[in-house]
Amino acid sequence: MNDGPILVFDSGVGGLSVVATLRQQLPDAALAYTCDNAMLPYGTKADDWLVERIVAVCDAAVEASRASVLVIACNTASTLALEALRAHLAIPVVGTVPAIKPAARLSQSGHIALLATSATVNRPYTRHLIETFAAHCRVQRVAADPLVAQAERLLAGRAMDEAIVSASLEPLWLDSRLDTIVLGCTHFPLLREHLSGLSPWLIHWVDSGEAIARRTAQVSTSPAVANGPGRSWTTAMTPEVTRALHRFGFAAPSLLTITDPIPPLSSSMLPS
Ligand code: DGL
Repeated sequence: MNDGPILVFDSGVGGLSVVATLRQQLPDAALAYTCDNAMLPYGTKADDWLVERIVAVCDAAVEASRASVLVIACNTASTLALEALRAHLAIPVVGTVPAIKPAARLSQSGHIALLATSATVNRPYTRHLIETFAAHCRVQRVAADPLVAQAERLLAGRAMDEAIVSASLEPLWLDSRLDTIVLGCTHFPLLREHLSGLSPWLIHWVDSGEAIARRTAQVSTSPAVANGPGRSWTTAMTPEVTRALHRFGFAAPSLLTITDPIPPLSSSMLPS
């Protein structure tokens, strides 16, 4: 294995919630970050197009960063494209899947919810996770795509739209037996304090950060040692993304050059 950095990938700044946990568990490791912000959000795009896009972007980012491990810090990408990424790349690929298993263990009432993008809540991968680990629970699946843009705003130092945030959570508050909510999108832990302030009763908020960091530590036997701010790449240069990366200790991003041809995103490829 080479001794390059651990490369963290997401569609936007959501993967920075995973970076925070990785830094706690692997404090010396060099981290790099790539986001496909030109195509954000992923959660409302068609699966076939997304697989090709994710493989092309990750391929280019692994090459640019000379990464030793790739962490897909995105539930929407992982529940769809892990197999394709592993078939394509020669380095270990760590995925992110909704934390259904720990949530089902933690819940006392047996009523849990998955808060994620519409793509993630509807994926066969997610249904399989629920059948395997939470068959004994009532699992409410709530699509909350607008929260992705709100997390992006927060990290860019802009005010969130409170009405949008509250409306996204509304479907959760119908039955007070709900005691555990899975944050099944890596953007959502960035809003955790805010979300928990809006819950009408006590909720356990569960995310996948710890599990991803544990798995990354297992596969990265000799990661490069951090030496100054990590490098970062984006597919669209904006002051907002630069600011968010800076807040999480990354150097100003470079524009990622994608060498593989990307099929155009036509409106017929969007889910109806
Ligand atoms: N952060 C990504 C996830 O974990 C998704 C955001 C998006 O829709 O692009 O699912």
